[in-house]
Amino acid sequence: MTWTPVAADDELGVGQMKRIAPAGKPLLLVKAEAGYFCVDEFCSHEDFSLWFGCVKGNAIKCSLHGSYFDLASGQPLNEPADCPLRTHPTRLEAGQVLVETT
Ligand code: FES
Repeated sequence: MTWTPVAADDELGVGQMKRIAPAGKPLLLVKAEAGYFCVDEFCSHEDFSLWFGCVKGNAIKCSLHGSYFDLASGQPLNEPADCPLRTHPTRLEAGQVLVETT
């Protein structure tokens, strides 16, 4: 397990996303109402980039078919997606957002 700095603490506003690839794998860092979350960039339904979606509360919406995913658990909140997104722990340290990768 490795913690990698991926953004400054104040880099994103609530509702904003940043594409990151701390271990060569495309991920999204998202600042939601409850803070920073990190999930796989591509939707579990049809591999569409969630970068084109939007953040609402503590969920992210896939713009291709409209499924929302809970950013904390990765679970889909409505159809058609029925598989969770992979989530990655985040933490703040010394003004940086760190993401844990395996
Ligand atoms: S590709 Fe995301 S809901 Fe279908």
